Amino acid sequence: MLLDLSDSYVERNRSSDKKLSTLRGRTVINLFFENSTRTRTSFELAGKRLGADVINMQVSTSSVSKGETLIDTAVTLNAMHLDALVVRHPDSGAVSLLAEKVNCAVINGGDGSHEHPTQALLDALTIRRRKGRLSGLRVAICGDVLHSRVARSNIHLLNIMGAHVRVVAPKTLIPSGIERLGVEVFHDMRAGLKDCDIVMMLRVQTERMQGNFIPSIREFFHFFGLDYAKLEMAKPDALIMHPGPMNRGVEIDSDVADDVERSVIREQVEMGVAVRMAVLEVLTRTEGG
Ligand code: NCD
Repeated sequence: MLLDLSDSYVERNRSSDKKLSTLRGRTVINLFFENSTRTRTSFELAGKRLGADVINMQVSTSSVSKGETLIDTAVTLNAMHLDALVVRHPDSGAVSLLAEKVNCAVINGGDGSHEHPTQALLDALTIRRRKGRLSGLRVAICGDVLHSRVARSNIHLLNIMGAHVRVVAPKTLIPSGIERLGVEVFHDMRAGLKDCDIVMMLRVQTERMQGNFIPSIREFFHFFGLDYAKLEMAKPDALIMHPGPMNRGVEIDSDVADDVERSVIREQVEMGVAVRMAVLEVLTRTEGG
């Protein structure tokens, strides 16, 4: 399965000889309509370490800014015989729409507030390596759940893997009906973190907020920011996670984020490359025959 294959790449990435030829002759395009640091870089590294040719396309330098539609862009790129297209787009559903128009593998690098599947996979890998399992663990996903594609993908994957998922946030930052995805909802951090094995913090996504979702940053941090006082409620060996980029002092206290005993935030970034290698390998294997 994907996580086992990713595990093998973690070891490979730690060695000095990182380059393989699994995807030699294959072409991967990173098509990013939104800013990204770790997702784009790790897909690029993943492709290159597997021996593929990788091209990065940032929207501002493409003809999308000249008015070409999403579909035209996809069809144009498709004509160049790609093997995989990694797409990030600000609109939910855009990646799936695009996938219908091309013959190559399409990987969702994050679409609007909808999904970010490789983030959920790298989170699962991080947890599994630390805890030895996912099943039966209590995971609290906290903060701006409403705008978070990371939250949605994690809820799906963690549920499939048998974890118990909670979401913890003010009422304004919880999508209505989220219980239907199989989560418990909490509006109080202490209650939500009680006896959790994993505390996953989310970034407050002000760029996706039109209107007032939180009274002030200060108040948000006071009630929902992860600090040592609130962390006390979780299990003593609970892990702290954050997909990045972090707003220190908003959703997470800086000392907590940097706590080498508890925080696995940097490990998540490391796992990201391994997971994306596994995803690229498996999807191009199927597509490419
Ligand atoms: C996330 C994203 O872009 O969805 N970041 C990431 O991929 N590591 C989360 C975020 O932007 O807050």
